[in-house]
Amino acid sequence: MRHFLNLIDITTDELRHLLAEAARLKSARQRRIPTPTLTGKVVALIFEKPSLRTRVSFEAGVAQLGGTSLFFPGNEIGLGWRETLADFTRTMSRFVDAMVLRVFQHSTLDGIAAHATVPVINALSDWSHPCQAIADALTIQEHLGTVAGKTIAFVGDGNNVSRSLAVAVGKLGGKLILSCPKGYGFDEKFRTDYTARVSPDFPEEVNDPLAAVASADVIYTDVWTSMGQEAEREERLRKFAGFQVNAKLLAAAPKHCKVLHCLPAHRGEEITDDVVDGPQSVVFDEAENRLHAQKALLEWLLK
Ligand code: CP
Ligand code: NVA
Repeated sequence: MRHFLNLIDITTDELRHLLAEAARLKSARQRRIPTPTLTGKVVALIFEKPSLRTRVSFEAGVAQLGGTSLFFPGNEIGLGWRETLADFTRTMSRFVDAMVLRVFQHSTLDGIAAHATVPVINALSDWSHPCQAIADALTIQEHLGTVAGKTIAFVGDGNNVSRSLAVAVGKLGGKLILSCPKGYGFDEKFRTDYTARVSPDFPEEVNDPLAAVASADVIYTDVWTSMGQEAEREERLRKFAGFQVNAKLLAAAPKHCKVLHCLPAHRGEEITDDVVDGPQSVVFDEAENRLHAQKALLEWLLK
């Protein structure tokens, strides 16, 4: 029995297996071939924060695999306050075959995983967004052939999304450059984890976004203010003002460069309409790939 809390916990071979399975499931869906591998399985989704892509792709994915999903907003269950995390987890483990959780504090996931007798999947925490990163890697592979040898310029915050993306890119032999205002880069804990478990070559931080994208095969961005950081919004808007992914930035990158964004986009803040809707953007392929990646993940954890 395995949990999936961080991408750093799986091997490169396991990540490659998930990507291959995701591609196979995507092709099966396109050809309308049924894939009822989770018949009779029940998956609970417990979300403390809002979601479109993650919730819908998990619920649709479970249904397409022949299983059943149950959705709970965190406050309905009273996660962590109506009863202890341990009691919640031991109870849920008797009812369902897997738990998918979106939480404010990553420590909540660790607390649940410690007591769970069924797989626990991280559907986003303040620390990481590993399901997103599998879909991102799949999207890069589809559009550029491979992640190995590619340069991904993440222009934005050193946050949950960029940490998980950095791990995926590092494991698959690509290079991630983080371009952010001073003080918003990757922290020491991440550097320690990454250099010990992914690669000694830690992602470079480049403050000038024009320089960061000069050799980029992919430009990736995410919101400047993540869920849970709303009190910092005004300060972040000021600090990140020069880090918008717009036509000028795109013009500084190679012509073949693709644009990714995990979505939701704050249009006019971290990215402009012309870029997100433009010919180099693959953000909706990326969103779709959440479905295929998570179906592969569910099969891997539950079969
Ligand atoms: N990218 C992503 O996780 O989207 P949601 O927050 O809508 O699930
Ligand atoms: N970094 C963002 C990602 C949303 C999918 C957040 O945590 O809000």
